[in-house]
Amino acid sequence: MYYPEELVEEIRSKSDIVSVIGSYIKLQKKGANYMACCPFHNEKTPSFSVSQQKQMYHCFGCGAGGNVFTFLMQYENYSFLEALRTLAERAGVSLPEIEYSEEAKRASDFKGRLLAVNKDAAKYYFYQLKSERGKAAMDYLKKRSLSDETIQKFGLGYSTKYADDLYKYLKRLGYDDELLGQSGLITMEEAKGAYDKFWNRVMFPIMDVNNKVIAFGGRVMGQGSPKYLNSPETPIFEKSRNLYGLNLARGSRKNSFLLCEGYMDVISLHQAGFPNAVASLGTSLTTQHARIMARYVKEVLITYDSDAAGVKAALRAIPILKDAGITAKIVDMKPYKDPDEFIKALGAEEYQKRLDGAKNSFFFEIEVLERNYDLNDPEQKTRFYNEMAKQLLQFPEELERGNYTEALAEKYKINYGSLRKLVNRYGAQLEPIQAAQTVLRDKEYKKKKGPEEWLLRSQRLLLTRLVEEPETFGRVKGIISPQDFTEGLYQSVAEMVFEEYEKSGAVNPAKIINCFEGKEQQVEAAELFSTQILAPMDEAQRRREFADTVVRVKQSSLDAQYKKAVEQDDINAMNIIMEKQKGLGKLHSSLNPG
Ligand code: CTP
Ligand code: MN
Repeated sequence: MYYPEELVEEIRSKSDIVSVIGSYIKLQKKGANYMACCPFHNEKTPSFSVSQQKQMYHCFGCGAGGNVFTFLMQYENYSFLEALRTLAERAGVSLPEIEYSEEAKRASDFKGRLLAVNKDAAKYYFYQLKSERGKAAMDYLKKRSLSDETIQKFGLGYSTKYADDLYKYLKRLGYDDELLGQSGLITMEEAKGAYDKFWNRVMFPIMDVNNKVIAFGGRVMGQGSPKYLNSPETPIFEKSRNLYGLNLARGSRKNSFLLCEGYMDVISLHQAGFPNAVASLGTSLTTQHARIMARYVKEVLITYDSDAAGVKAALRAIPILKDAGITAKIVDMKPYKDPDEFIKALGAEEYQKRLDGAKNSFFFEIEVLERNYDLNDPEQKTRFYNEMAKQLLQFPEELERGNYTEALAEKYKINYGSLRKLVNRYGAQLEPIQAAQTVLRDKEYKKKKGPEEWLLRSQRLLLTRLVEEPETFGRVKGIISPQDFTEGLYQSVAEMVFEEYEKSGAVNPAKIINCFEGKEQQVEAAELFSTQILAPMDEAQRRREFADTVVRVKQSSLDAQYKKAVEQDDINAMNIIMEKQKGLGKLHSSLNPG
């Protein structure tokens, strides 16, 4: 940790978790907590909960959870320091300048150093493009109708024909081999030494939302294979989370994004006056991509290639976008291959018309489906209608499903009543599957997850209860101690909880989470404070459940101690433990009298 604990805690306490998370996703008050659909996994009914009291969040679906720092680390993919700096700024807390030695600075900020390498490389490629050596590359870009302004805006460049030009340059700037190898820009090989990854290519710097260069794509000029070469994934470049052009599109003030396939599509669209174009590069669209877009827009127009691969990619993207809460529409670019070619051939105005006429994604899906059937053949036609009915079930809400059923009946001249009946029949077959997905009750939980996980769950329940209801601490005092928690992390957390109680009579779980630096540990620690009973209970049931939990935790701890005593042949200890085991019944009734 670089900053004093008190400062970290001050920033945390000044960053109310409800307002911070509320600035990223829409929260709805439900009882004492706030709920939302989880930003970390796909879901339709909210299981993501934010507690103002605990200053923590937790998802009952995927287990994500933590305090306000963890949230930024998970949501923005920040390091702890990045999250701290962001929240400090937001809270108006100034962070002291910390003096590092040159060495410590380098070691402390590996990501920062990778960013610096990429930035210097981008400058270098850009400079080469403008120089005499880059003439062929410049001609190529001009031939593809890019203006000087566009070249500047996207920072395009050129990697020369020399095998280690960039390497030598970066070495002169003082970067070490280890870092250069990790940057993905230089290939290090024992036999051949160091050489540049990109060679005689037009270079496309890939930027993150903060306009920082994090990777490159390089295109051969003209024919050649591979057409594009991309930086490998590095600590600063995760393909599944990065969208080309998003740094510009996010500020475009448009209420939709244009989603394309490639670098040139994005660039052409921006140049033609469509500043909201983005692309997922060299990888198909991921749920993370979709969630990132959902932060900015509610609608995405898919403007993929018009070939079979593009149609397939669009069909894949539609449900991913829908799951992220985005309305998807499909832009038809026929007879041209992609937006770049379309614009070159017909211009921006015609393209705008295609955007205006973008097709509802469901109708697109049905039209693609239709291509598999010969509607003149009654048998195939029937099969098509059956498939259509199944597709209609993707709308869980009756009203919406009804509207789409009506629209399709109209379009294909099907009797509405018959189509609806068909839909309902498939719907009935589906229901038992959905009903089976309800939460597991206690006993089922044990059966399904095994006794060890069940015990850990009891320990989590106990910690959660202690944190949520301070009066319970008095009831387990002298009975339960941190040593009764079996896992390392559980024990450290329990130690902090008990210590805080002794000191101040209350526990601040979000503060305890600060003590863990790693994201995984924070998430795990957060789970210890967010474990809920599975079935709703009344007061008496809750009391009994609490007694059960305490006894279960104590019993397993005593069992473990006994085993150890046996191993060590410690008769004395064995007797003491046996006495305690005998007292468990009494313990239960004292916790749950009557
Ligand atoms: N791509 C890639 N590696 C390849 C081919 C393609 O990473 N060998 C990625 C690139 O991001 C590219 C996108 O997939 O921009 C779409 O590929 P393609 O349609 O073949 O290229 P275009 O974008 O149309 O590029 P151009 O117009 O220069 O041919
Ligand atoms: Mn193209």
